[in-house]
Amino acid sequence: MKVAIVIHTQSGHTTQFARAIASKFNQNGHECDVMLLRTTGQVSPGSRKFTIKNPPEIYGYDAALFGGPVWAFSASPVIKSYLGQLKNLKCKKVMSIATKGLPFSWTGGSRALKQMDQELEASGGTVLPGEVLHFFFKANQKKMNSAVERIFKAFTD
Ligand SMILES: Cc1cc2nc3c(=O)[nH]c(=O)nc-3n(C[C@H](O)[C@H](O)[C@H](O)COP(=O)(O)O)c2cc1C
Repeated sequence: MKVAIVIHTQSGHTTQFARAIASKFNQNGHECDVMLLRTTGQVSPGSRKFTIKNPPEIYGYDAALFGGPVWAFSASPVIKSYLGQLKNLKCKKVMSIATKGLPFSWTGGSRALKQMDQELEASGGTVLPGEVLHFFFKANQKKMNSAVERIFKAFTD
């Protein structure tokens, strides 16, 4: 299976999570690419004054994950903007992922996933339950490994 992971990251946490997921797919005979969204303009919570310089084309992929940090209790404006312009995800399994800094459950993780999932559903994807990973400087390795296992299972079962 060919899998795309498209993410926005500011400080690299979401990249770490995405790379761990990609390693799992690649070590198990799949082909998984991590693609980082690059922007120009002002990127801040709630901002729309930016342009994505390299919106990846995921037409040739069988499945895809999309993610970014939780900002101000919401999904990253960059990944939301990218998902808003995605067109046809029919016949693709898709999933939202997010990383966050605050440990409590009410600090935006579920809301961020819901916002991303709404965009994915609007594009016709088969939306799998997403994953949020908490980073306190770094991720809890055990929790990251468990999330990676759940994600891999969801796509390959
Ligand atoms: C502007 C800003 C707003 C943030 N808002 C939240 C928040 O509402 N809830 C939370 O849990 N973490 C929040 N964080 C922490 C980030 O979600 C967290 O550090 C995340 O892992 C960063 O991902 P990245 O390294 O991929 O950019 C915020 C960070 C920034 C810079």
